[in-house]
Amino acid sequence: MQNNHFSATYIGTTKIKLDRVASTNDFLRAELSKSTPLVEGTVIMADEQYAGRGQMGTSWESQKGKNLTTSILLCPHFLSPTKQFDLSIIISLALQQALTSILNVKVEIKWPNDLYVNNKKIAGLLIENILQGSKWKYAIVGIGVNVNQTEFSSKIKHPTSVQKILHSSYCKENLLNEICILIEGFYEQLRKGKQKEHKSLYLKHLLGFNELRIYKIKGISVQAKIVDIDPNGRLVLDTNGTLSIVNFKEIEFCI
Ligand code: BTN
Repeated sequence: MQNNHFSATYIGTTKIKLDRVASTNDFLRAELSKSTPLVEGTVIMADEQYAGRGQMGTSWESQKGKNLTTSILLCPHFLSPTKQFDLSIIISLALQQALTSILNVKVEIKWPNDLYVNNKKIAGLLIENILQGSKWKYAIVGIGVNVNQTEFSSKIKHPTSVQKILHSSYCKENLLNEICILIEGFYEQLRKGKQKEHKSLYLKHLLGFNELRIYKIKGISVQAKIVDIDPNGRLVLDTNGTLSIVNFKEIEFCI
């Protein structure tokens, strides 16, 4: 499923560039509550975030000017809010493809939506959904990619960056444009119902898929294989022939 010959027509057409902001996700959310509507595909970019947020209430650190810290507005009205993981899959795939084409190395998706190279984290996603009644109104797609940062605080576990891998700097605007093109391609496929194809691509690039590895599940070390994801995006693990389903807070990867 290739997106290479696709050009973005609405994702990234409107870009709001900020020097300094608490969090691009928060900025976008605040804009949504104003009377002037933002168009779907609007991208917020910041040179510096002073309160960048990561998954599960963590913070996202990024040196000023070095990295991609961006949020994209999507309006997935065509999807039921029960399908939130379908969106997470395509954003992960877009990042996976964009980074693979730049780096020319294996880029893996660490469940649910981190991007890893050689067991080191290069990018993360924070997708925040706004529902209205039973409808999915907005998705704020927060994307953080380590591009030109080479020194990281010791608090960050196993970080890497585009520059660390390529040994040369990379233009973060070019990377963003590529990501927008890829997201739009996958998003249009999603609109056409290509979830099955997306899931198999996701599993193909999933770190540890069908490999026997050690995980900490609910605090206990176990040897298991990731064999699937369920429709809610939870991991399906095979431990000695017994299948179990785990959610985000229940599993720790031993990397
Ligand atoms: C993670 O891996 O924990 C998710 C990191 C997401 C970081 C991005 S940077 C742009 C956007 N704004 C934020 O405050 N967070 C996301």
